[in-house]
Amino acid sequence: MIDFSKLLESLETAMRAGYAPPPHLLRKMNADIPLDREMLRYTLEGGPAGGYFHWLALLTRILQPRTILELGNRYGNSTILIYAELAAASQLISVDLERDQRYIPEEVWNDPRVKMRFGDCLDLSIYGDDLPLDVDVLWTDTVHIYDQVKAEFVVYEPLLADDALVVVDDINLNDKRKFFDEAPFAKFDLTTSCHTTGFGVIHYVRPPSERGKSRETRQLTATLRANQIFAQRYWAQVGHISELEEIRARSLVLPRSVKRALGATARALGVTRITSSRQF
Ligand SMILES: C[S@@+](CC[C@H](N)C(=O)[O-])C[C@H]1O[C@@H](n2cnc3c(N)ncnc32)[C@H](O)[C@@H]1O
Repeated sequence: MIDFSKLLESLETAMRAGYAPPPHLLRKMNADIPLDREMLRYTLEGGPAGGYFHWLALLTRILQPRTILELGNRYGNSTILIYAELAAASQLISVDLERDQRYIPEEVWNDPRVKMRFGDCLDLSIYGDDLPLDVDVLWTDTVHIYDQVKAEFVVYEPLLADDALVVVDDINLNDKRKFFDEAPFAKFDLTTSCHTTGFGVIHYVRPPSERGKSRETRQLTATLRANQIFAQRYWAQVGHISELEEIRARSLVLPRSVKRALGATARALGVTRITSSRQF
């Protein structure tokens, strides 16, 4: 069981002492390019824009979580800082829609402890047969709205360890704060030391009555929740189009992610053959 107060205290002390990222992992940031220079400065100095990079590295060093799942990794700064302190027996799974991890050096890509996954994090088929399980730290930094972070929590909750941390960036942007405020767990707002746009950590503890479920049940629950969210979003989108009859008359190609999600449901239910139609 994580001693949340003690962990926060240790992190605060470590943050005050300062963190120096290993220079060799930052070598793909070119100080001659303005964007790279800015990102390099945040990463090296921490402070109001980049304090969370240091905090993530120190969390990884102090807690030594076995499984860290990162949602949203553009450019790769947070990935690099977690990697810098990743223990030998730990793994980092990192997900993004886009293939732009420009600062991540080759050794991170080639390290068997790191799995990079591409696609929508709410589409669990992006993991193939290797769905994360017993995630000790869920670190989310995707689209900064309540609906997204809430959906991520709903989907990944069955895949968390019984006792886990949910770390959320930018909690003060848009309506995202609502997620942090309504979380029924111990939590701590680290905005002052980590990120001007907000940064928070939540200590998730699974209720005793929900523990001890099989791996298959937990993975199936997560998959079904993901597919339900996909279906709701997909039909909400289609519902915005007033000429529904016209759409019915046309052939429709479902988004790849929806097709994949439907396939995942079918597989989870034991269906071995899926016949698809492009017509409504
Ligand atoms: C703010 S950036 C991440 C920055 C990174 N965590 C860091 O601090 O260095 C947000 C990223 O989330 C990704 N993203 C947005 N929605 C996503 C989704 N549904 N699934 C996966 N990635 C998503 C975007 O492509 C973008 O690269």
